[in-house]
Amino acid sequence: MATPSHPTIPAFGDELPLSPSPEVLQFLARRRSNPALTLTTPGPSDDQVRTLLQLAKRVPDHGKLAPWRFIIFNGPAKADFAVQIEGLALKREDARAAAKLGKLKAPPLAIAVISSPKPSDIPEWEQVLSAGAVCTNLLYGALAMGFGANWITDWYAYDPDALILLGLTPSEKVAGYILIGTTATPAQERERPELAALVRSWETP
Ligand SMILES: Cc1cc2nc3c(=O)[nH]c(=O)nc-3n(C[C@H](O)[C@H](O)[C@H](O)COP(=O)(O)O)c2cc1C
Repeated sequence: MATPSHPTIPAFGDELPLSPSPEVLQFLARRRSNPALTLTTPGPSDDQVRTLLQLAKRVPDHGKLAPWRFIIFNGPAKADFAVQIEGLALKREDARAAAKLGKLKAPPLAIAVISSPKPSDIPEWEQVLSAGAVCTNLLYGALAMGFGANWITDWYAYDPDALILLGLTPSEKVAGYILIGTTATPAQERERPELAALVRSWETP
């Protein structure tokens, strides 16, 4: 029997009958991100990370291009990455940038989702949107496993030297760092936009 941490990932061609998922609806109604600074050990196990990545890549993807990839920062390698990013901030004598790195340092696991558009007839915009969907799936997957998680970008998602350090090609961008760990601080619901301001029903002019 699959546990929530080990859902059954279907194989190609498996029949996937539609069934209502009240638990998923309740999850969507109530989930919240957690402040990165509250995220501590333990993080997901290697098995759970693998499951999260399997779930994250199950997103709508026009043309089946898989226009995204992942970079995993875990354990000492993550600490080393944070030191190198801190070095970039210190080189520029940018104390504010250095101070922001607490969010990267605190959680035991960070996964960078890289938007990696492919040469194709599919518009690049749609490929970038698919990378955003990967970030959402990864975030929601981690929350559904019971971990605290947050999607951030911060300056090092845009800094040219940080992108070189990551090994991004010129067409690639950081869609987000998904920070994952354990939190003892329950989230509170935040302010949400009113639907009325966002919605109109189409009426033929
Ligand atoms: C693309 C993207 C980038 C973000 N970057 C940051 C960031 O750099 N720093 C930050 O504090 N929050 C950032 N956020 C917002 C956090 O994810 C925030 O915690 C989240 O929007 C809270 O909403 P939720 O609880 O509904 O998930 C970003 C959100 C998105 C979608």
